[in-house]
Amino acid sequence: MTQDELKQAVAREAIKYVVDGEIVGVGTGSTANFFIDELAKIKDSIKGAVASSEATAERLRGHGIDVFELNQVARMSVYIDGADEITAQGAMIKGGGGALTREKIVASVAEKFICIADASKLVKTLGKFPLPVEVIPMAQSAVARQLMKLNLGPDCEIELRFKDGKPFITDNGCIILDIIGLKIADPVALEAQINQITGVVSVGLFAKQGANVCLLGAPDGVKTMN
Ligand code: 5RP
Repeated sequence: MTQDELKQAVAREAIKYVVDGEIVGVGTGSTANFFIDELAKIKDSIKGAVASSEATAERLRGHGIDVFELNQVARMSVYIDGADEITAQGAMIKGGGGALTREKIVASVAEKFICIADASKLVKTLGKFPLPVEVIPMAQSAVARQLMKLNLGPDCEIELRFKDGKPFITDNGCIILDIIGLKIADPVALEAQINQITGVVSVGLFAKQGANVCLLGAPDGVKTMN
């Protein structure tokens, strides 16, 4: 099975968690895109969706699914999204697509975070995948200096994310600093430490509120981790 087929398999499985008549929170990325394609097949049984990025909103609308502003929504049963890395305990690195802040906000309103990922995303220790930090542009250098002061390890480097030769700009008009070369021993503590730095909008560590369920796609089937 290809990686895309594994992503499609978990996307199909995630439909079982969507509650009839309700609004579902939808993540960003290639796995979330497969989920949107599956959601389109049952669109008449849901009220609509809240999107975690402009790209997701566009894809949802393209399928004829109503997109609600989060401010219009008081409660949500489930938020369904991919991850760049996930541990067996449900802590994740997210934000490879740069949507980490909106993903965290929408996830915070949902009662359950359902992570959908192919088995290559399961790790023992988070940090091989660069950890994204969304930053207010004027604070780029100040935040980078504060991150270096955290002594995150001998291999740690901080890189400004680029796209098409220019700094990557998020849906919120901010930049991303990627921390590379990490081995994250205590994800909850590191998430709190980075969140405290002035100028940081959010960090792509989802540990304090991790995934409640992870649907992991492997060649021998979809495994459910609770
Ligand atoms: C986007 C994300 C994605 O969920 C993450 O990057 C995984 O992407 P993909 O499903 O394409 O592997 O956090 O900001």
